[in-house]
Amino acid sequence: MRGRLTGSATRWVASPFDGTATRSVCDADQLRVPTKRAIKMRRSLCAVVIREYQESDRGWAEAFLNDQFGGALQARRGELIDVLALPGFVAERNGRPVGVVTYRRESDECELAFIAALERHEGVGTALLGALLEAVAECERVWLVTTNDNLEALRFYQRRGFVLSALRPGAVADSRQRLKPQIASVGDFGIPLRDELELRLLRNRPAGP
Ligand SMILES: CC(C)(COP(=O)(O)OP(=O)(O)OC[C@H]1O[C@@H](n2cnc3c(N)ncnc32)[C@H](O)[C@@H]1OP(=O)(O)O)[C@@H](O)C(=O)NCCC(=O)NCCS
Repeated sequence: MRGRLTGSATRWVASPFDGTATRSVCDADQLRVPTKRAIKMRRSLCAVVIREYQESDRGWAEAFLNDQFGGALQARRGELIDVLALPGFVAERNGRPVGVVTYRRESDECELAFIAALERHEGVGTALLGALLEAVAECERVWLVTTNDNLEALRFYQRRGFVLSALRPGAVADSRQRLKPQIASVGDFGIPLRDELELRLLRNRPAGP
């Protein structure tokens, strides 16, 4: 028996790990019992591999950005940039992409243009950020723009040494009006999406103003 459905069409109940020898231990989709605990347990056995972002990644990455982030054209600092036309890194687990980061380098500065984890809170974002920081080790300043509703990102970056360096009140509302009408007016947690926040990581000297 592979499992039986009860009540909800998505909750499986059956004995776990029965006869799965030919299947990958890492693949959550192949679990007989895809409970959160079982998925996490198997994922913990499977390392995240980081590799360079390639042109051939654009297909899945663009579908992901279209679905969740309003497309590859991202607005910040009053302009749109195609964040998938930049160098970057892909995180893979069991041969499947689970995250992407892209960046833009300009002399001794680097902009983190886009980062997202398809599977959150499992170390993917940290691994991607680590790869980026290593790749641009000679850049003195790494900076990025986020939005006032993105509390998860604000926590993520500040916990990793970034400091707030600018606030542009109304910048997102302005981009919505001038550049990208598809930008939602309400963001995470139902927070009105209005402002841009900039963070920077100062290297080779202590973070601070
Ligand atoms: C910001 C973002 C990339 C972080 O990615 P992530 O993969 O969730 O990040 P991590 O898993 O490495 O770290 C997040 C937290 O999970 C925790 N974590 C990592 N592995 C874990 C595990 N196995 N079990 C429990 N917690 C874990 C980390 O300690 C971290 O907590 P901390 O920030 O308090 O230190 C992700 O939230 C995201 O994709 N957001 C949407 C896109 C976005 O907003 N991008 C930023 C635009 S500026």
